[in-house]
Amino acid sequence: MLRVEDTIQTPVEFSAALIAKFDDVVSRYPEGKQKAGLLPILHLVQAEFGWVSAPAMDKVAAYLNIQPVEVYEVATFYTMYLMKPQGKYFLEVCRTGPCCLNGAEDIMKYIEQKLGVKEGDVTPDGLFSWRGVECLAACGFAPVLQIGPEYTFYENLTPASVDKLVADLTAQAKN
Ligand code: FES
Repeated sequence: MLRVEDTIQTPVEFSAALIAKFDDVVSRYPEGKQKAGLLPILHLVQAEFGWVSAPAMDKVAAYLNIQPVEVYEVATFYTMYLMKPQGKYFLEVCRTGPCCLNGAEDIMKYIEQKLGVKEGDVTPDGLFSWRGVECLAACGFAPVLQIGPEYTFYENLTPASVDKLVADLTAQAKN
C-alpha cells in the first residue's frame, strides 16, 4: 500500500468555492459530527485536483477539526482515492474472475505495452495511466474498463477496441 509519507508534498490551496461545497456537506450532519462528511469532502478534493495529496489531507483535517491521521487512514483505505497524480485519462481495468476468464489479463498486458507505462505510471505526455481494479459490476460485458470522472464504461474489450479508445482519447485531448 502507498504510504501517505510517500506521496508528493504538493502545496495546495482550497478556493472559496470549494470550501463552500465542504460547508454544504457538513451542514447535512448533526452538530459535532462533522467528521461524517470526510468521504464526500475527499471526493470533492479529488474532483478539484485529480488526486488527494498529503497537504490536501492536512487541510481537510484542519477544516474538519480532526487529526491528519484520521484523514490519512480513510483516504489510504479506499482505493477510489488516488494518492498520486494520474493521467488525464485513467483507465481502470476490471481484473476480477469473470473479466479474467474473458481475457482481462491479456488486455492489461496489451494496455501496458500500448501505452508503454506500467500500472500506476503516467505516459510522458500526461494523457494516460491505468490500473487493475475489482469488479465493476458489468460482468456480462467482460472484459471491461472504466474512465472517470464520469465513469464511462468500455465493454467487450479487444486489442482493436483498446487501439480505437486510445486513438479517440488522444484526438479528443488535442481538441
Ligand atoms: Fe469484471 Fe465484474 S468481473 S465487471
